[in-house]
Amino acid sequence: MNPITLLQPPRIAFGNRCAPQCAEFLAQRGVRNLLLVSSTSVLPAIRGVLDSLTKEGIHFIQARPVDREPTVRLFEEMLTHARAGKIDGVLGIGGGSVIDVAKLLAALVHGKQTVSEIFGINKLIRRELALVCLPTTAGTGAEVSPNAILLDETDELKKGAVSPHLVADAAFVDPLLTLSVPPAVTAATGLDALTHCIEAYANKFAHPIVDVYALEGIKLISANLVRAVRNGTDVEARAALSLGSLYGGLCLGPVNTAAVHALAYPLGGRFHIAHGVSNALLLPHVLRFNFSAAPDRYANVAAALGVAKNGSPLTTAGHGVDFLSQLSRDCGVPQKLSELNIPRDAIPGMARAAMQVTRLLKNNLRPLTEEDAARVYEAAY
Ligand SMILES: NC(=O)c1ccc[n+]([C@@H]2O[C@H](COP(=O)([O-])OP(=O)(O)OC[C@H]3O[C@@H](n4cnc5c(N)ncnc54)[C@H](O)[C@@H]3O)[C@@H](O)[C@H]2O)c1
Ligand SMILES: [Fe+2]
Repeated sequence: MNPITLLQPPRIAFGNRCAPQCAEFLAQRGVRNLLLVSSTSVLPAIRGVLDSLTKEGIHFIQARPVDREPTVRLFEEMLTHARAGKIDGVLGIGGGSVIDVAKLLAALVHGKQTVSEIFGINKLIRRELALVCLPTTAGTGAEVSPNAILLDETDELKKGAVSPHLVADAAFVDPLLTLSVPPAVTAATGLDALTHCIEAYANKFAHPIVDVYALEGIKLISANLVRAVRNGTDVEARAALSLGSLYGGLCLGPVNTAAVHALAYPLGGRFHIAHGVSNALLLPHVLRFNFSAAPDRYANVAAALGVAKNGSPLTTAGHGVDFLSQLSRDCGVPQKLSELNIPRDAIPGMARAAMQVTRLLKNNLRPLTEEDAARVYEAAY
């Protein structure tokens, strides 16, 4: 068995109405001047949290809203602004876009490092500020992961920083914060969370500890995603998805994702396709490429999705991928790259760009060359 280290926030609260508890936690940590990072569409859902901050005597300033996947330029502007103020803690309440910005601000406001210096693994020297994260999508799992991702528009690449210092001090996962997520975002973010679980379970560095989270996350998301897409106020389905997303996030530190995410990055980097949509679209195609490398693992994924084990592991694995394609169609997610206005002649460039994401490709169960990547994009076109 491989050795493994789990790095998680020392406090993870989960449950309906747990969000306002973050104020007491911040006050106990001695935070008095808080930077609040959020997005415009989330603000109506977090009045209770803002009230409890005020009750705890915490003064907060609102950073500029992060309404879409953040760029390096936006982040640098926000960093300059934050450095000019006096803050002793950061609270991120939003989807992965907001949380990643909150994590990076908490890490860099008091340091001398630039964000470009910390892209990669273990480049961040330290984080001085308290950091608390509340996810409002179910989703990225960024509230518990050691990762943060920005779009570098100059290089047309999504770039990630990975560091133990990017793990929050506390995560409060309140499914009620996700009730207002629109159907298309519910679908894409849910399939992203499902992809985290599948890629961590069927991974070169898979580990029994992480398998537990991954399989449970696959079951929860598979059984509840369509329900939540069709009825956003289905509180039970929302809670199941929030839990599945949390499990997916807990997979990201110790094992992380693989070729689906690596191939999805150029779609975000060059064509600004949302992270969840990029992953959802590529998932069945990459799995079809992969599953001969570990039929038993993919058969277990299929079983967790709810597919009956029938015939050989390879056959069951195939049925699992068919199930995923159907799930994605039922959720109304785009099925083809051509639907996203991506020109076919962009494929060779995207395959080249995907090859740069070595930190994830190294996890893939089947080695994937640039030609293979181009074939996967062709299959998805
Ligand atoms: N750090 C990590 O571990 C990690 C993991 C995976 C992805 N990511 C990154 O996270 C980003 C994507 O995050 P995401 O998929 O959560 O989407 P997102 O944060 O970009 O949110 C998508 C849209 O939904 C809106 N929204 C969010 N919560 C809402 C709510 N409760 N009600 C109404 N609208 C709401 C947002 O304002 C935004 O317009 C990408 O940049 C991706 O690269 C990070
Ligand atoms: Fe993801």
